[in-house]
Amino acid sequence: MKQTLRLVLTFCLLAFIAGDAAAQRIVRKSFARAERQTALLDSLLTSPDLFPASWNTDGTIKTNSARGWISGFFPANIWFLYEYTRDPKWLDMARRRTAPLDTLRRYTKTHDLGFMVGCPCAAAYRLTGEEAYRQLLIDASDALLTRFSPAVGLIRSWDNKNGDPNPYRVIIDNMMNLEMLFTVSKLTGDKRYYDIAVCHADNTLKNHFRPDNSCFHIVCYDAETGRVTGQRGGQGYSAASAWSRGQSWALYGFTMCYRETGDPRYLDRAVKCAEYFINHPRLPEDLVPYWDYDAPGIPDEPRDASAAAITASALLELAKYAPGKEKSYYGTARKILTSLASDRYLIPAGKKCGFLIDHSVGSKPSGSQVDVPIIYGDYYFLEALLRLKNYKTQK
Ligand code: GLY
Repeated sequence: MKQTLRLVLTFCLLAFIAGDAAAQRIVRKSFARAERQTALLDSLLTSPDLFPASWNTDGTIKTNSARGWISGFFPANIWFLYEYTRDPKWLDMARRRTAPLDTLRRYTKTHDLGFMVGCPCAAAYRLTGEEAYRQLLIDASDALLTRFSPAVGLIRSWDNKNGDPNPYRVIIDNMMNLEMLFTVSKLTGDKRYYDIAVCHADNTLKNHFRPDNSCFHIVCYDAETGRVTGQRGGQGYSAASAWSRGQSWALYGFTMCYRETGDPRYLDRAVKCAEYFINHPRLPEDLVPYWDYDAPGIPDEPRDASAAAITASALLELAKYAPGKEKSYYGTARKILTSLASDRYLIPAGKKCGFLIDHSVGSKPSGSQVDVPIIYGDYYFLEALLRLKNYKTQK
C-alpha cells in the first residue's frame, strides 16, 4: 500500500515537472530580454575597467572599479548568456568584461572574492576550460585564505578603518564566498581550502542563527579568543530583525555547503531557512519579500527582488536534496520566477540602462540603492532561470 502511494506521488511529481511548459516559456522570454538589455548595458559602459552596480534614479549607471564587491556579476551574466545561447558574440564580450578582474589576483582587502572572481571565473573555466581562469580562481582563493583566523575559526568579513583587530566582524553574506574555496579544493586536490570553508560554515551555523531560524547580518567576535561579543543590524532594520537578503544568503550558502560536503547539519539548516521564507506571515502574495521581514512600515516598504532571485535559485537546488520537499520548493521557486518575469519586475527592453529586474534594495539604513535595479538581482535571476531550464536533466 505504502509503495503504491509512493509510486503515485512520484508519478504526480514527475508529471508536474515534465508538464511545465509554462516554466520554459518564462525562461525563453527572460533570456530574450536579457540579451537585449545586456547588449544595451555593455554599449553604455564606455570604460572597459568599470562595472555596473545599479541604476540611479537620474537615469545614469552607478559603477564600481574591479575592487567593488559587485564587479563579478556583470561579466558572470554574460557568461550565462553564452551558456544559454552558445553565440560567440557573448563569448567575446564575456572574455572582455572578465579581463579587468585579473587585477584582483592578490587583492586581500575584501572577503567578497567569491562573488568578484568566483562567480564569473568558475563559469568561464567550466565553459572554456582555459587555464588562465583556473589560475585566477586559485590565486583569489589564496588571497581569501589570508583573511582566515584560526583563533576565531572564521574568515574576516570587514576590516576596521583604524586597523584595530576588534571587532572581528563576520557577515552572513560571507557564506557565499565559500563556494569558490570548495571549487578550488577540487581543482587542486588541496584540502586546505575545503577545511577552511567547513570551519567557517560550522562557526556560522553555531553563532549566526536565532531560535526562530532567522539570522543576524553581522556577528562580532573577539579576534584573540573567538568569543562572540555582539550582533549588529548592518543592512537590516535592526540587530534583532531579519534582513531579507541575509536570509537568502543563508539559504543559498547552506544549500551549497550541503552539496559540497554531504553534511546533514547543513541540509537541516538550509531546510529551516527555506521554511522560514515560505511560512513567513509577512511574505507578500507574489513571494518577493520586503527588504526586511521586520521593516516597520510593511506593507508600505520597498521589496527586494534580489532576495527573491537568490531564494529561487537556492530552492531549485535544495528541492533535489530535501526529502519530501521537492514539490514545495520547486513550486515556490517557479512562483518567484513567474513574479520576477512579470511586468511588475522585468524591465522593458531598452529601459533603465539595460538592467534586467527592478525593485531591489542595496542598503535601506544608509539610503543607498533603494527600490532600483541592482546587478546581483539580475545575476541570481539568470542563474535561477538556467536551473529551471535544466531542472529535469539535472535530476
Ligand atoms: N554583500 C552585500 C549585500 O548583500 O548587499
